Amino acid sequence: MKKGKFITIDGVEGAGKSVQIDFIGNYLAKKNINVILTREPGGTELGEKIRALLLSTDTQSMHGDTELLLMFAARNEHIKTKIMPALERGDWVLSDRFTDASYAYQGGGRGLSIERISLLEKWVLQDFTPDMTLLLDVPVALGMSRVEFRGCRDRIELETHDFFNRVRDVYIERSKQFPERIKLIDASKTLEQTSQQIKTILQTL
Ligand code: TMP
Repeated sequence: MKKGKFITIDGVEGAGKSVQIDFIGNYLAKKNINVILTREPGGTELGEKIRALLLSTDTQSMHGDTELLLMFAARNEHIKTKIMPALERGDWVLSDRFTDASYAYQGGGRGLSIERISLLEKWVLQDFTPDMTLLLDVPVALGMSRVEFRGCRDRIELETHDFFNRVRDVYIERSKQFPERIKLIDASKTLEQTSQQIKTILQTL
């Protein structure tokens, strides 16, 4: 029995997820909600090893299907050994990225079949979905300029602007397809203005 709430945060590179995750963590803690911060790919010991394989620039080549399967392998471990037990205890879980990223990056970016992604989603998650997804949206050029400013880029961050435009398009399409769950947030505003939008949305939970 799931007692806590499961929130995910997603978006293209450079949308400012990390700062907003800190903001949400503090906001929920002030309301005496025990929140577990986690991330994908990763979040478990094994998942972090899979993350390293996926993101390292030492990984010279990876077939798109392999990338998708590794994302879901890490997710399977994450959901079954960390997220579900936490929600059953009554904790809240905030995950930096989740399945929407597979649709956006592997579906939109890599052009893999949406049917196959949804097959894997069913296989691994059955009908389990986040209670709320905060989609931080920024134009790709702005997001990438923030990433470039940070310096060293991982294997996926080295992709082209066209790739990230396809990623962004899928995220936006999904927010229209699932308006109840996915809340589109304009993250091109200042950090404070973005946090304010998030706070207003969180109050509805
Ligand atoms: P980040 O969490 O630091 O943004 O890095 C994770 C990277 O992994 C990011 O480029 C998005 C990518 N990713 C996918 O391609 N598919 C997925 O399913 C997930 C969870 C992440």
